[in-house]
Amino acid sequence: MRAVDGVSFDMMAGERRGVVGESGSGKSVTAMSIMRLIEPPAGEIVTGTIEFQGQNLLALPEDDMQDVRGGRIAMIFQDPMTSLNPVYTVGDQLIETIMLHQHVSKHDARRIAADALGDVQIPEPMARLDDYPHQFSGGMRQRVMIAMGLSCNPDLLIADEPTTALDVTTQAQIMDLMLKLAEDRGTAVMLITHDLGVVAGFCDTIQVMYAGGIVEYGNATDLFGNPQHPYTWGLLGSMTRLDESHTERLHSVRGAPPSLINPPLGCRFNPRCDFVQDICHDSYPALRESGRESQIAACHLATELDLNTIDVTGVVGS
Ligand SMILES: Nc1ncnc2c1ncn2[C@@H]1O[C@H](COP(=O)(O)OP(=O)(O)OP(=O)(O)O)[C@@H](O)[C@H]1O
Ligand SMILES: [Mg+2]
Repeated sequence: MRAVDGVSFDMMAGERRGVVGESGSGKSVTAMSIMRLIEPPAGEIVTGTIEFQGQNLLALPEDDMQDVRGGRIAMIFQDPMTSLNPVYTVGDQLIETIMLHQHVSKHDARRIAADALGDVQIPEPMARLDDYPHQFSGGMRQRVMIAMGLSCNPDLLIADEPTTALDVTTQAQIMDLMLKLAEDRGTAVMLITHDLGVVAGFCDTIQVMYAGGIVEYGNATDLFGNPQHPYTWGLLGSMTRLDESHTERLHSVRGAPPSLINPPLGCRFNPRCDFVQDICHDSYPALRESGRESQIAACHLATELDLNTIDVTGVVGS
């Protein structure tokens, strides 16, 4: 089975990229591939290149890749308990990461670690270094992960649904904090989320994934205002608008995502598409420009469809 196939994209320094798409569309696999965390027997990167600052990450020896991981590229996962080791203090783990990537003494690493905790607004950071992960609340642990992710000043921070395990208020605070810290440091962020409201509010560019591939990419304003792929249109239509009744949905995507073991022939979205035509069963549509400069879509009909526009003001995630 190809969980992700033919995914190719560039990111600019400092860019804030939102990655959206239904469950199982390949968002996490894409992120983990960048970090080279897809390993046999669970999976394998069969072909491709992942170019980062002029280097193909797939060709790097594992030692060099370890410098990249956590150093130049950091990743924050949904559940911090799976990333933090329960038997070591938060300070030990932060200090270890810092010493692995920066040539500093243990004493300096401890100070950098405390500063990092302070940056994510953990009170009394120096004292909290000696606490174990279970002594922090869920939100605090996620702040620790952000501190750890940013402690080595990465050029790219990949955040895979970093706040879904938290309550809504804490989610918003942590997302704000993470994006502000990244912005202050000029760190590019790849934010994987189901929350289109967050994407509308924070991201410069959006990548929509469907059944293991990118189906549309563009800058946020163009993509929200003028979706070119029927799947994007469906996804956006399922958002609730603040200025209208909370139950109103413009339209949504009917049906369920296809099996990746035996995907539909032609366009993988064809069984669910309201605009389907013969050509959609015959050939797989390549990503191509779709009228607007920034926007590309993998739809045979992209330039012909006139999908209604969506005003993103006051949009919240569904
Ligand atoms: N480590 C892995 N190696 C190989 N295949 C994987 C791995 N993890 C997940 N998959 C498969 O890849 C496909 C895409 O999964 P992925 O986790 O990337 O989806 P997702 O878009 O992140 O979904 P969600 O929104 O639920 O997190 C799924 O069919 C899944 O079974
Ligand atoms: Mg995922």
